Amino acid sequence: MSQENRPVNRITVIGAGTMGSQIAMVAALSGVSASLVDIKQEQLDVAKEQLWSRVDRDVHKGRRSLEDVNAAKARLNFTTDLEAAVAASDFVIEAAIEDLKIKRELFATLDRIAPPHAILATNSSNIVSSRVADATSRPDRVCNMHFFNPALVMECVEIIPHAQTSEKTVDIAAGLAESFGKRVVKLNKEVPGFIANRLLNAIRREALELYEDGVASAEDIDLAAKTALRHPMGPFELMDLVGIDVVYLIRMAEYEQTADPESLPAESVKKLYEEGSFGRKTGKGWYSYSN
Ligand code: CAA
Repeated sequence: MSQENRPVNRITVIGAGTMGSQIAMVAALSGVSASLVDIKQEQLDVAKEQLWSRVDRDVHKGRRSLEDVNAAKARLNFTTDLEAAVAASDFVIEAAIEDLKIKRELFATLDRIAPPHAILATNSSNIVSSRVADATSRPDRVCNMHFFNPALVMECVEIIPHAQTSEKTVDIAAGLAESFGKRVVKLNKEVPGFIANRLLNAIRREALELYEDGVASAEDIDLAAKTALRHPMGPFELMDLVGIDVVYLIRMAEYEQTADPESLPAESVKKLYEEGSFGRKTGKGWYSYSN
C-alpha cells in the first residue's frame, strides 16, 4: 500500500493532561493502538488511574462491555519514550501546553522522528497550525484537530487546515475522528478560537463582565445559563471543568496573535490563575471541590 493511502493503525497523543489522556482513551476504545506520552511519569500514572476508573464505571453502569474495555486498556500504552512511540505512529495528536515556543520545538522534533507519511495534528484551541507547520518539513501534513472537554463525552471535533494543509490530510483527520465516533466540523480556513470556542468566549466574556461589574454572583449567572438557556453547565462551572489555567493561557495565546487588549484574560480569571486556583483539577476555582 502506498504511504499516501496507509490507514491510521497507531496513534500517539502527546500530553497526559485532561484532554490528551481522554483523547488517547477515545482512540483506544475505537480500536486503534494508542500511545499516551508525557515527560512526567507521575502525570501518566494519574492519567491511567483516572481513565481506568472512568471506563470501569462504564462497565459497572452497563454502558460498555468488560471485553471492550479490557481490549481498549490493552491497546493503550503509557510512556515517557516520545521517540519510540512517535516512530511507530501514523498519526500524532499534540495536546501539550498552550505555549507557542514549546509547540514549535515539539513539532520540529516530531517531524524528525515521525515516519514521513505521519500526520502531525495539534489539539490547540487557539494556536493555529500554520504557526507550528513551518517548524516542520511537512506542512501539508499538519493541521488542528480540536476536541472538547470531556473528550470521552463531547461529540464534536473541529478540523482546521492551514493554507498548505493537503486535502488528503483533512480527509484522514476527519476519517479518524469519525472512527472515534465523533461528529466532524470542518473549517475552511484558520481563525484563532475556531468556531465553538468563539461562541463560548462570547458567553464567557459577558458572564465575566456581569460578575466583575457586581451585577450577580458566579452562582447566579451559572443558574441563569442552566435554567433560562438550558446549558448543561454555567460559564463559571465550565471554566472550572476546562481549567482556569487553560482559560488564561488561551486568552494569552490569542492576545499574542491579535495584540488586541480585548483578547486579554479578565482580571478575575487572572487572579485565580495567579493564585493557582485552576478549577476542578486543583480542588478550587470559581467553586470549591472536596475531591
Ligand atoms: N470525563 C469523562 N466523562 C465524564 C466527565 C468527565 N470529566 N464528566 C461527566 N462524564 C460523563 C460520565 O459518563 C457521566 O456519567 P456517570 O457519572 O454516570 O459516570 C456523564 O458524563 C454524566 O455526567 P454528570 O451526571 O456528572 O453530569 P452532566 O449530565 O451534567 O454531564 C457533562 C457532564 C457532559 C460535562 C455536561 O455537563 C456538559 O456537557 N457540560 C458542558 C461541557 C462543555 O461545554 N464542554 C466544552 C468545553 S470547551 C472545550 O473543551 C474547548 C477548549 O478548547 C478548552
